[in-house]
Amino acid sequence: MPSFLHLLRSLPFLALPAGALAAEITLPPETARYVESPLPGYATAVAMCSTCHSADYARIQPPTMARAAWKANVTKMQKTFGAPIADDAIDPIVDYLVKTYGAERAPAPAKSERPAAVPAR
Ligand code: HEC
Repeated sequence: MPSFLHLLRSLPFLALPAGALAAEITLPPETARYVESPLPGYATAVAMCSTCHSADYARIQPPTMARAAWKANVTKMQKTFGAPIADDAIDPIVDYLVKTYGAERAPAPAKSERPAAVPAR
């Protein structure tokens, strides 16, 4: 009786060289995807906000956009446009959005806060 591994190896799709299918996939440009973040709302946003349009709609909002306005936006996606977003997912998504694209973004570090260069020996 052939071993399980032997059977696996005989399956044709496993015989494809790595990357054989990759050439047919065109990934969207970086700006069209949600900016990566350790915030819990990031994965939720990717899952729930990527079905109808790209992340460009979030990216082009004013950087001063406050939490309440983001919440109104996400609620509009849910209630007006019918996005399948669970009620308890809204706050984490809003938290991610306002801290990534809106008024609560971390300011870029000032020059003086950057670590000093290591002196040459
Ligand atoms: C069911 C489809 C759908 C889903 C899912 C969806 N949207 Fe939208 N979104 C729309 C439509 C439709 C528009 C309006 C497009 C237009 O005006 O051309 C829109 C517009 C927007 C805009 C532009 C500003 C505005 O209010 O029109 C932003 C920002 C936005 N969406 C963010 C999000 C975020 C964040 C999520 C996830 C929480 C999301 N969308 C999920 C359908 C969706």
